[in-house]
Amino acid sequence: MVEPSEHDILIIGGGGAGLRAAIAAAEMDPTLDIAILSKVYPMRSHTVSAEGGAAAVIKPADSFAAHIEDTITGSDWLADQDAVEAFVKEAAPEMIQMEHWGCPWSREPDGSVAVRPFGGMRIERTWFAADKTGFHMLHTLFQTSLKFRITRYDEWFATRLLVEGGRCQGAAAIELRTGRVHLVAARAVILCTGGAGRIYPFTTNGAICAGDGMALAYRAGVPLKDMEFVQYHPTGLPPTGILITEAARSEGGIMINKDGYRYLQDYGMGPPDPWPRLRAMEMGPRDRISQAFVHEMRKGRTIKGPYGDVVHLDVRHLGEKKINQKIPFVRELSLHYAGIDPVRELIPVRPVVHYMMGGVHTDVWGATTLPGMYAAGECACVSINGANRLGSNSLPELLVFGARAGRAAAAFAREHQAINRPALITQVLDEEYRLSRDFLRKEGGTERIATLRAEMTLAMEDGCGIFRDEAGIRRTCERLADLRAHFPRIALDDRTLTYNTELVTALELDFMLDAAQAVAHSALARAESRGSHQRTDYPKRDDERFLKHTLAYRTDGAPRIDYLDVVVTRWPPAERVYGR
Ligand code: FUM
Repeated sequence: MVEPSEHDILIIGGGGAGLRAAIAAAEMDPTLDIAILSKVYPMRSHTVSAEGGAAAVIKPADSFAAHIEDTITGSDWLADQDAVEAFVKEAAPEMIQMEHWGCPWSREPDGSVAVRPFGGMRIERTWFAADKTGFHMLHTLFQTSLKFRITRYDEWFATRLLVEGGRCQGAAAIELRTGRVHLVAARAVILCTGGAGRIYPFTTNGAICAGDGMALAYRAGVPLKDMEFVQYHPTGLPPTGILITEAARSEGGIMINKDGYRYLQDYGMGPPDPWPRLRAMEMGPRDRISQAFVHEMRKGRTIKGPYGDVVHLDVRHLGEKKINQKIPFVRELSLHYAGIDPVRELIPVRPVVHYMMGGVHTDVWGATTLPGMYAAGECACVSINGANRLGSNSLPELLVFGARAGRAAAAFAREHQAINRPALITQVLDEEYRLSRDFLRKEGGTERIATLRAEMTLAMEDGCGIFRDEAGIRRTCERLADLRAHFPRIALDDRTLTYNTELVTALELDFMLDAAQAVAHSALARAESRGSHQRTDYPKRDDERFLKHTLAYRTDGAPRIDYLDVVVTRWPPAERVYGR
């Protein structure tokens, strides 16, 4: 039996982007009926894991032009320049707004907001709250959202978007506590479900980052943009993949190989100064530093650890006082998850999948190609990140484009009143039947979820890792097609309704296979190297053929790939130079 409810705006995902969108819509029109539906309680959303900071121009020596240029250069010229301009100009007011809502930004001794440098920046502009920035931002947004009349569906899992009359009119969702399938109808829907890092075996992403929103949109006919661009962060802590923030390096940490040598100097990243030099060495962009690790490993100069090869991050020279004050979480995480005290010991690290530059194709207002459907945050691709995101741009991105999507969805909802409830109920009944037939009542399944998931992650690492070539990517595409073919034969042991986490992991795997196929086929088609997409068979950037966004459309077989021109306004493509 379908339980219907109806709202003006339904936001799927209760992390930073979702909360910011809800607040923006509620502030714009307090009469709007707004709902947030999230598979976890909002404070457990992945925004909480963000550590090092959020970039925005605040200091007199900085400028919008510098932030724009750093972002476009970092993106290897694949970012849309109109989007970057809007982002940079709106990031600072958003961050000040966060301050007014109570975000405890770290301070300079004179009381002004403190900033630190992050990789690829020519000037320090990363605001931070020690190294628990995401935690504090999420708290601030959550407590602010409580001022408004916002309905929350916590621990509800959206399984299908409802498209009727050519527009998105809500979602079918499982209430995890009861297992019942509901209709949540809405005049506008905003997807804010985060990334899909879990399609890889070693990732900073929490288990919830399964590409839900990407797959929901993809299945509703909306293309996924630039999915081949997957960011490896240079410093993941084995074996968990927990992030050791870039802030450790911006505060002066250095990276050394098995001989204690600062190897980044061998990869065009500049001289090994004893202090952090902006846009050089440890403060270079993430794609270049992660690529240097692979070269170093091939030269046999990394350290063989129990969980694979690592290099060392050395922060010992910063001293206990500074470590405790500026990067206390680095110390806590190293102690708790690796038994290492960075005050006295070297931290073993290696590149780790951290962020999807690609996502649901949107315009600068978060609008997708499906009327009534919007997306913001990591699940969306606006695009400001292009082929490589600069560290600390994602938190302001979710503020700026979360707010924009909230306002745009509010305007849309006011103009589109009619909801076709009978047709939506029919769709939800179909969805309820599908979930029962394919999962809860299916007999004779032979495939284990965990096995298929592990095979998917290994296929992604093998063929779509830091370096790629045609043969490897093709193998990954074939393995994913095979996994897709095996998926209908999965076996569920748990047939109960209350908090059926096995059903959730099965549905997440289904979503992840979509995201993984979009990544692999987009990577196959892009025969050039740019940012995080390094093709050893096409080592050069090819602006003539590929100064374009990839669009992947879902089909019954391999995705259909198309292209869209990059918006270039005032910053013509140039060589990407760091280390000077
Ligand atoms: O290293 C970090 O703190 C990560 C920041 C980011 O991805 O923006």
